[in-house]
Amino acid sequence: MSKNTWRDYPLWLKALPWELTGDLRTPEDVAEYECSRYMSMHPSSAITLIHDDTHGEGYTLHWEERNCTVHGSGAGLLYGFYDAVFHARVNSREEVDAKPRYALRMINCWDNMDGSIERGYAGRSMWFEGSRFVYDPDRIRQLGRLLASVHINVLCINNVNVQDPAGHLLDTFLPDLAGFADILRPFGVRVMISIDFAMPILEGMTTADPLDPAVEAWWGVKADKIYEAIPDFAGFLVKADSEHRPGPNAYGRNHAEGANMLAKALAPHGGVVVWRAFVYNCKQDWRDQSVDRPKAAYDLYHPMDGQFAENVILQIKNGPFDFQVREPVSPLFYGMPHTRLALEFQLTQEYTGHQVDIYAMPPLFEEVMQAIPENAISAIAGVSNLGRDSNWTGHPFAALNLFAYGRTAFHGTQDSKAVTDLWLGNTYPDLSSRDRKILHSVLLHSRIAYERYTAPLGLCWMVNPHGHYGCSPYGYEFDVWGTYNRADRFGVGIDRTSSGTGYTLQYPEHLQYVYENRDLCPDNLVLFFHRLPYDAVLHDGNTLIQRIYEDHFQGLADVEEMKRLLDTVQFPEEDAEEVHQRMEMQLHNAREWCDIINTFFYRFSGIPDQKGRVIYP
Ligand code: GCU
Repeated sequence: MSKNTWRDYPLWLKALPWELTGDLRTPEDVAEYECSRYMSMHPSSAITLIHDDTHGEGYTLHWEERNCTVHGSGAGLLYGFYDAVFHARVNSREEVDAKPRYALRMINCWDNMDGSIERGYAGRSMWFEGSRFVYDPDRIRQLGRLLASVHINVLCINNVNVQDPAGHLLDTFLPDLAGFADILRPFGVRVMISIDFAMPILEGMTTADPLDPAVEAWWGVKADKIYEAIPDFAGFLVKADSEHRPGPNAYGRNHAEGANMLAKALAPHGGVVVWRAFVYNCKQDWRDQSVDRPKAAYDLYHPMDGQFAENVILQIKNGPFDFQVREPVSPLFYGMPHTRLALEFQLTQEYTGHQVDIYAMPPLFEEVMQAIPENAISAIAGVSNLGRDSNWTGHPFAALNLFAYGRTAFHGTQDSKAVTDLWLGNTYPDLSSRDRKILHSVLLHSRIAYERYTAPLGLCWMVNPHGHYGCSPYGYEFDVWGTYNRADRFGVGIDRTSSGTGYTLQYPEHLQYVYENRDLCPDNLVLFFHRLPYDAVLHDGNTLIQRIYEDHFQGLADVEEMKRLLDTVQFPEEDAEEVHQRMEMQLHNAREWCDIINTFFYRFSGIPDQKGRVIYP
């Protein structure tokens, strides 16, 4: 990392270059403080705050010339202030009447208490080190401010795979947790923690059976103690019976029984249980073609619809696999009408380039939000891409993903171009308009470029095992994770239609019809739903094999062009080196992917590229 510290790096808050000091106890205190500092620095454009408690968590912005009046109260007033600053910075005078689209707007951090972050690509944890809380309170305040600026109101601070000693966050570390929550409270951010379903056993009980009255009582007492220390504690995030985590199944109980028991303990205090739906058989035999991993969550939860308590929220990843480059949206979003649901995005770039490769997510958010049925979800979560790196997100451009996620969570679907421009104008106010245009186009093209040089046509999982950066088409092929492409000399992909694994049957009829039908199934998902021979003709007229070659050569060419363009942009000093170094790495990665995938399929198919480009035999 560069020599800067986080103090020199306000991300998109460049218009507010100060630290928050003084006795700031409530979001309104913060709003007043920020506003007075802002006014003294920007006397030509006034922001006036009007306390008005008719807007709930929402706010309005009204402009007269360059002056903005913000109406709101509590966190809403603070949100309105930040939004006014963002708009002022890009000379937008948009009248705004904002109401939160989702009441719970969460960031899930996968931080471990040893300081590492599972799937983290921006340095170590900002609040854990050496098995305890260790942090710079100024930085946590700055974090709270960043989150408030994009209207996020819940921070889950530890890994869903709860690792020792995080099982003790609710006893030994409860005072530390309360202290941490105190710092975030003035920003309207409440803390949540991931719990281990077997926590009662860690603390000396003989069972964690959710239907055992002693276990229920144990959680009840625990909840009372938490709320004594942290009255606005948000609740528990739970990964149970998934990837070796303990859960209710060990006691012959189902997930509704497990979740409801925890929910009962939190209900009197207004807390929620966010129960993750990322559950599948992670000990599969690759020889066994009767099991199809994307079907797992729906098979498990759909029959339980309506059985979850009011304060349980089932949190579903956007696709049925695991944040792959291209997946259809999970069928669970259509299949749980009587259950509160949350949508989970992964901001940290596990499968999308580790914050080395540029991968701007606004188009992903837009696409998924539009695909999910209206009102199917009532909460939203993003797996954090933040860490202790001085620039917070490893790649400076990765901050766009947090910014756009927050705005999506509060305002609903965001136009990708508009949200990218808003971020750009606030992050890089001094770039020339030419440079900003270049950056805008590079960012908005980055997802399609990444998809082209990596996994073809919805196939997924051709990554290096474990780390998930770089290419390995057979890396997961003979493993236990249910992640197969079944490429051979005749073709590739898995038939997930009704004549195959039957996965398509989990969707409502109109989507079943589209996905089943080769003529209607979009090319970019065709290998997710169908097994095709290499000479199958796709909608664009290319054969499958030719399309694989086209995409990979084009993806590499896209990255070469992105690099050429970015080399001409005058980035601020603190970002320039980072951007250029990472671009070199991305180019190397793209070349590896392109050559390996092309060779892999050429070796199987024996069919050369129609355009005679180099494919290594
Ligand atoms: C992915 C990721 C894991 C993570 C899991 C989850 O599989 O690789 O590190 O624990 O998702 O979402 O629980």
